Parts: sequence; C-alpha cells; structure tokens
Amino acid sequence: MYLEKLVLKNFRNYEVVNKDFLAQINILVGSNAQGKTNLLESINYLATGKSYRPAKEAQLIQWKKDFFYVGGKVKSRQGSTGIEITFNTGQKSLKEIKVNGLKINKLSELLGNLTTVLFAPEDLNIIKGSPAERRRLLDNDISQANPGYYVRLQQYNRILSQRNNLLKKMEHRPKSMEQLEILDQQLLAAGNDIIKKRLTVLGKLSPLTRLVQRKLTDGEENFEIKYIINKEIEVEKESEVEEILREEMRRHKNDEIRRGMSLWGPHRDDLRFSINGNDLKYYGSQGQHRTSVLAIKLAELEFFKAESGEYPLLLLDDVMSELDVNRRTQLINTIRERAIQCFITSTEDTSVDWGRNTSVKRLYIERGRIMENKN
Ligand SMILES: Nc1ncnc2c1ncn2[C@@H]1O[C@H](COP(=O)(O)OP(=O)(O)OP(=O)(O)O)[C@@H](O)[C@H]1O
Ligand SMILES: [Mg+2]
Repeated sequence: MYLEKLVLKNFRNYEVVNKDFLAQINILVGSNAQGKTNLLESINYLATGKSYRPAKEAQLIQWKKDFFYVGGKVKSRQGSTGIEITFNTGQKSLKEIKVNGLKINKLSELLGNLTTVLFAPEDLNIIKGSPAERRRLLDNDISQANPGYYVRLQQYNRILSQRNNLLKKMEHRPKSMEQLEILDQQLLAAGNDIIKKRLTVLGKLSPLTRLVQRKLTDGEENFEIKYIINKEIEVEKESEVEEILREEMRRHKNDEIRRGMSLWGPHRDDLRFSINGNDLKYYGSQGQHRTSVLAIKLAELEFFKAESGEYPLLLLDDVMSELDVNRRTQLINTIRERAIQCFITSTEDTSVDWGRNTSVKRLYIERGRIMENKN
C-alpha cells in the first residue's frame, strides 16, 4: 500500500500542504526544526488517529489557529481510500474522522486503512526504556493489524480504572467486596483476551525478528523475545494465561486493597529481549541495541505483510545516520527488494544508491513548506 496524496491544514508548522508522493522512496531533506518530523507525524496520525509523540491533540494545531485537518489518499489492493481527520477546538464535536467521505464513530474503524511502521531515534530506547514503551510497540502493531484488539484494550482500560477507583475506597468500605468480585472477573476476562492475543502476535513477530537479526549479524546472534507477566512470570502458552492471572489476583488481593491499585493484568506486563540467551537490557552493547531495534522494525514490515497481504509504509526519522554502513545497506536493500513506500528524513542532502529500478523523489522542507527544488 502507499500514500498517494497528503493534504494538511494548520497541522503543526504546516499551514497548507497538498502534495503527491512516489509509491517508492520519498526523501525529506531539511535543516533542524523545519518540519520533517512533523510531516511523518501527520502521516502516522492519518494511520492511527493519534500522535506517537507525547503530545496532546490540541498541540498539533498550528499556533493561534483553532483546528487542523489531515487528509490523504491511500492506494492499496482494496483500491483507493480517502481518509480525513479534522480536530477542532472551537466546536463541541472536537474530532471528526471520515473514511471515503463517510463519518466513522470509532477510532478502531480507522485502523487498517493505512498501515505504517515508524522508526524514530526514540525507538532506540525500546530495549532499555520502560515496560510501557515495549507494551506500546506490541499494542500498536496488534491494533493496526487487528482493530478488534484495540477495542478490547479500551474496554480493559475502562474496567481497570473502575477497579482502581473501587480499590482506593475499599479500606474504609469493606462492604464493596461483592462489587470488587464483579470487576475482578471482568478484568480477568479482558486481561486474558489481551495477553492471549499478544502471545499469538509475539509468536509470529519473534521468529521474524530472529530471522532478520541472523541476517544482519551473519548468523552470529540468536534473538529472542519473551512475554513476561507481572515482571517475573515467563509465559509462552496461551492456555496458561488464565490460570496465572487467577493466581496473581489471589496473591495480590490484600495488597491491592491496602495500596488502592490493581497489581496484576496486561498493563503490568513486559517483553524481555535476549541475544544468545543473555538479557539484552543488561548485557547488550549499543550496537546490539541498534541492530536489534532495526531487526524488530524490519520484522514488523513482514508481520503486516503476512497479516494483510501488503507491506505497510515505512517512516524513517533520522535513523540512517544512526546506523553503520553495513546495517544501512541491509535496510536499503530490504526496502528496495520489497518495493515498500518509504519516507526518509535527513538533514543532509547526501545521495544513496537505490539502484536503477527504484524511483526516488527528494523534497525539501523549509519552515513548514515542501518544495520540489532546493532553494
Ligand atoms: N503546533 C505548532 N504550531 C506551529 N509550529 C509548531 C507546532 N508544533 C511544533 N512546531 C514547530 O515545528 C518545528 C519543526 O519541528 P520538527 O520536529 O518537524 O522539525 P525537524 O525538521 O524534524 O527538525 P530536526 O531535524 O531537528 O529533527 C519546531 O521548531 C516547532 O517549533
Ligand atoms: Mg525531526
């Protein structure tokens, strides 16, 4: 699939954009703070209806304006799809999403129309960063491939916050035990669904990542991803999940009431990455972290291809310069061989050999404007 056209109004530092892109390589060249990342953010927003940066939606509106609009035309095997998202602070209805001109009511109906894999410098933190970052990686992938998962995750979060609210009041109101039991069962059911789905997807993503990692390291490194329930319980089989959760629920009950919060469930889980059996977080070198993240990203491309029959868009924010020549070449070859539409930002106008059969377009980004020629 590819993004044929992008239209922006008042999105970050872009006042108006109306641009056609190549189905292959689009290189966005510009100095710092000109709008390169903002452009990738807008494309990713079109795919997910959310910003991947820690921003509130209102912050995406251009300063001193009261709305933004992001629109795009996607070409895929399904044909042509128009996506439009408007966010308005001036009216009651803040956000409006349309797919092929029809208003949709749920974000989950947007997902899947445009699929993206984003690789940004902050992703290099996935391995060392907080568990929340690793969960987000998995949740994003699953939601894009399977919008039903996103719905279930929202339900889980609602039950979780109800349960936390109840737990906060319980010490002084022990009579709420019955109510807690109802929420326990709901949290257990939703949590079980979510973890099982994560395990299914990990069962696909993990071997793909291992394959790429072996290729990137000439077969030297055996990469593994494990799912960890509640910081310590390694789990592989979906059939084990429910029993483990039940036991966690029982084990933590008193503590939960005392501390006023839920102490088990998919919001407390984590992924553990290892190379040749050693935990990457504690033993990996800088280079191994970079290579592993690249391997995960390339595996995500294959994952989406296997799920939907089509490669997603690849958004590369400033990562070429983070990779050594060898890794960069492998990345370029992967993109080229699979004819993946790719948006690559760079502060330098250096040229890369993409081969004769790949079309490459350079666009120059300057203060929120996209130009075909260098000024
Ligand atoms: N809501 C907004 N309205 C107007 N301008 C904004 C808004 N949000 C961010 N900006 C501006 O957009 C500019 C460009 O940001 P962006 O992150 O896209 O730069 P970049 O080209 O990726 O730079 P770098 O090479 O440093 O990563 C920033 O200087 C910021 O001030
Ligand atoms: Mg940037």
